[in-house]
Amino acid sequence: MSRGGLSHEERDRIVLRLYDELLEIEQRLIPTGLHVFGRAPEEHEAADALRMIASFDRPEIAVRALPDLVATGLGLPAYRTLLEKSGASEEGLAQRERVEGIVRQAIGSFMGAGGGPAGVEAGTDFLAHKAGVAREESVKVFQLLSGIRERLSVNHELDALMRALRGEYIEPGPGADIIQNPAILPTGRNTHAVNPYGVPSVTAWQKSEAIVNALLDRHWREMGRYPEAIGMVLWGMDNIKTQGEGVAQALRLLGVEPRRDSMNRVTDIAVIPRESLGRPRIDVVMTVSGIFRDLFGSTMELLDKAVRRVAALDEPGESNFVRRHINEQLAAGDPAEDAAVRVFSNAAGNYGTNVNFLVIDSQWEQAYEIGDLFVTRKCFAYGRGLDGREARQLLERALARVEATYQNIDNTEIGVTDVDHYFEYLGGLSQAVEKRAGTKPKVYLGDTLTPLGKVRSLGETVRLETRAKTLNPKWYEGMLRHGFCGVAEIEHHVANTFGWSATAGAVDDWIYQEIAGTFVLDESMFERLRRFNPHATRSLVGRLLEAEHRGYWAADAGVTERLRDIFAGLEDRLEGVSASR
Ligand code: BEZ
Ligand code: MG
Repeated sequence: MSRGGLSHEERDRIVLRLYDELLEIEQRLIPTGLHVFGRAPEEHEAADALRMIASFDRPEIAVRALPDLVATGLGLPAYRTLLEKSGASEEGLAQRERVEGIVRQAIGSFMGAGGGPAGVEAGTDFLAHKAGVAREESVKVFQLLSGIRERLSVNHELDALMRALRGEYIEPGPGADIIQNPAILPTGRNTHAVNPYGVPSVTAWQKSEAIVNALLDRHWREMGRYPEAIGMVLWGMDNIKTQGEGVAQALRLLGVEPRRDSMNRVTDIAVIPRESLGRPRIDVVMTVSGIFRDLFGSTMELLDKAVRRVAALDEPGESNFVRRHINEQLAAGDPAEDAAVRVFSNAAGNYGTNVNFLVIDSQWEQAYEIGDLFVTRKCFAYGRGLDGREARQLLERALARVEATYQNIDNTEIGVTDVDHYFEYLGGLSQAVEKRAGTKPKVYLGDTLTPLGKVRSLGETVRLETRAKTLNPKWYEGMLRHGFCGVAEIEHHVANTFGWSATAGAVDDWIYQEIAGTFVLDESMFERLRRFNPHATRSLVGRLLEAEHRGYWAADAGVTERLRDIFAGLEDRLEGVSASR
């Protein structure tokens, strides 16, 4: 035994886990500044994007992920195995870091030689010498990267905007995330969506297995059983970008798979037999955005059909939670048609939950008001013959059974504290469940960007985003380069973080404490914020005081006092009571 009652082995294990967590934060690809319209990314930004792009297999063009090629070349286990091992074994960690270091250097050689044909040769040579990677494999990766780099280095946005304003034709391009689909480049094109009948894609379906297993395992570890019902948020843009990852996950939770017709359109589902599913079918309550409703009408029908198909299976309640719940509803006197309604959205022509406005404008007293607003906005039923009819009671009944809420996150650039929409949807839903189920649901987020596919709790996600962005000097200094807009961006992050307190109680004290320390109590930083954008600075300080006042942050009395003084000083200056420079 050593100090603190820990054995050396236990201590080493903790240090290793801590290191693994630090790597996770370090490796998040974060925006280090706002996009300036018309400006192409700088070399180092392009290199980061290319490294991320190269870290995924592209089976459709027979290109393998660079970390895997390196691991194979070195005679090590597959990269995903190294990732799995790195949090638990020093050897796994050392091997993982060796692979990642070589990948980074290879991208460096490629970029250093200009990224064109000479870059392809340099990258291929480097990997052949350094890691014994077969040239015929690595050359395909670098040729792909070379084309992407070229399209990254041009930017037609301003030119295209001018042409659009003159009423000229703008070429179309796919709408997607650059990592998932580099074919979105060059930017400055008219985004086209997906064919809703293509959703979910084969890849989205394949990827859904790991993430759904991770979600159910996670809940099992926390609660010792499967959730009988999950409340899920589905967005339109995300399902365009990922070709239906969220849709695939909903289907898989229900225990069904997509079926394609002779035209390769997803028009039906097939039930996964109980024996091969190996777990109960989970009841899924889907709250979909207005954009999803508009773009994915046929997909809403498919999801509705999936629920009805599962409900009709002759299976015992313990292996089919949909059927169990529907039987309960029928016993309570609900018509059969109503009992199976699980797809909800806004009334036709309406969008959003308005929870973000309620929270940001501080227009609520009791937390349940937030959930009530969510229900008011989202209680319109979709699917076969439903056509968006109001169904408040049906949504409320379905939410009363929900034990976990969930949303898939499809990119690292826009996370849970970057925009108000995540707390508006996932937070609003969770708050609505809390009142109707009588207990707080577990709140989870899926991250399909890491090769392993990961599910985090909301609390973990808020901590990760806070460390990777809001409190990360690389992030906030990047924002502050934009002056006025940068301060507004920092303030939005603080407000969106607060949104997670209001909707889900998911923000630790230290987060507010560190935000106050970094941006307000540090005099020179505060002065920079104030000069760039006094209004946003006042909102930021006011938001911290509101967090304290509403009981989300147990601040030291001295800190609250200082924040109050600072806030009063800002008000006076803005209103011209005292001299301002
Ligand atoms: C959507 O893509 O469905 C969406 C986008 C922004 C906010 C909410 C939903
Ligand atoms: Mg918006």
